[in-house]
Amino acid sequence: MDKFHFLYSALFLHLIIFYTGANAALNNFSTVPFGKGFRPLFGEPNIKRSADDNTVQLHLNQYTGSGFKSSDLYSHGFFSAKIKLPSDYTAGIVVAFYTTNGDVFRKTHDELDFEFLGNIRGKAWRFQTNMYGNGSTSRGREERYYLWFDPSREFHRYSILWTTKKIIFYIDNVPIREIIRNEEMGADYPSKPMSLYATIWDASDWATSGGKYKTNYKYAPFIAEFTDLALHGCVVDPLEEIFSSGCAEQDDQLQSANYASISPKQRVAMKNFRQKYMYYSYCYDSLRYSVPPSECVVDPLEKLRFKETGRLKFDEKRKQRRSKKSRSQDIGTRNNYGNQDED
Ligand SMILES: *[C@@H]1O[C@H](CO)[C@@H](O)[C@H](O)[C@H]1NC(C)=O
Ligand SMILES: *[C@@H]1O[C@H](CO)[C@@H](O)[C@H](O)[C@H]1NC(C)=O
Repeated sequence: MDKFHFLYSALFLHLIIFYTGANAALNNFSTVPFGKGFRPLFGEPNIKRSADDNTVQLHLNQYTGSGFKSSDLYSHGFFSAKIKLPSDYTAGIVVAFYTTNGDVFRKTHDELDFEFLGNIRGKAWRFQTNMYGNGSTSRGREERYYLWFDPSREFHRYSILWTTKKIIFYIDNVPIREIIRNEEMGADYPSKPMSLYATIWDASDWATSGGKYKTNYKYAPFIAEFTDLALHGCVVDPLEEIFSSGCAEQDDQLQSANYASISPKQRVAMKNFRQKYMYYSYCYDSLRYSVPPSECVVDPLEKLRFKETGRLKFDEKRKQRRSKKSRSQDIGTRNNYGNQDED
């Protein structure tokens, strides 16, 4: 067993006790073949569909990345896929699985993201989740984490639940982030219909250590695989003014689905995940938000573990490496909050 796999096994054993407790609430829903629910977004020659049309590969090579989107827009929904990420040297690569309406509402778009950030060989993938509402791009709500498994070895299910009341991000059966809507959030809470997107692209300028490690096409093609895709929600025409009125029944259905409530066991798993694997939260980044945005549930004990930059205080391995670098690499952009001292 090499160091890489040993690391994952150790992490896995450490957590299995919690994760087996998070029951199988996320197994009972229908999936949709690619051709029924989706269409190419870009890089069409790099989109490879399986014979049964339940699996689709997105390739990235030196010519282009690729992506697809759902053919419809949904006013609230449950969006899910089993995903397997590229392995080995993946620095500079971003695989994104997200909902947005940016092509319909350019200045006032809504968005919910999973973004997976590639790494140099032997180092784990990292990922972030984020939310924007009504074009709130100046108020990013990033959280960044490690995974408790190697996402390039097997398929794992990633899901986004978006109802009128809350948003839950899931990995397999573990809710990893929950955002409860409140009035103060106003239009920062996504409210207009969105489509589901999946993309792979070269983000060499920021994805890995703030751009230090670029995509190396010697290892191409980089392949992200998606299977058993699920799209549940109220299909709407985005140009209709009052899209939500026809969706009351489906909103209710969504709210009463098993994946819309977190069981006590799942809540324990969520807490454990966040304690062990979250290394950046906008809620603890007081340099950026002197008052945390209203949806933040600030746990005073948890807060102690984070610096005013929103990053973990005790990240010893990182710290040692970090001290060798110059401060000049710390200047963040919209895209790399919390990414400053990764190596
Ligand atoms: C799965 O969902 C269907 C329809 O939503 C429901 O009738 C069935 O009882 C569910 N099965 C389980 C095991 O929860
Ligand atoms: C969304 O943003 C636009 C443009 O900034 C603004 O005019 C509109 O009132 C906002 N919508 C809501 C519901 O706040």
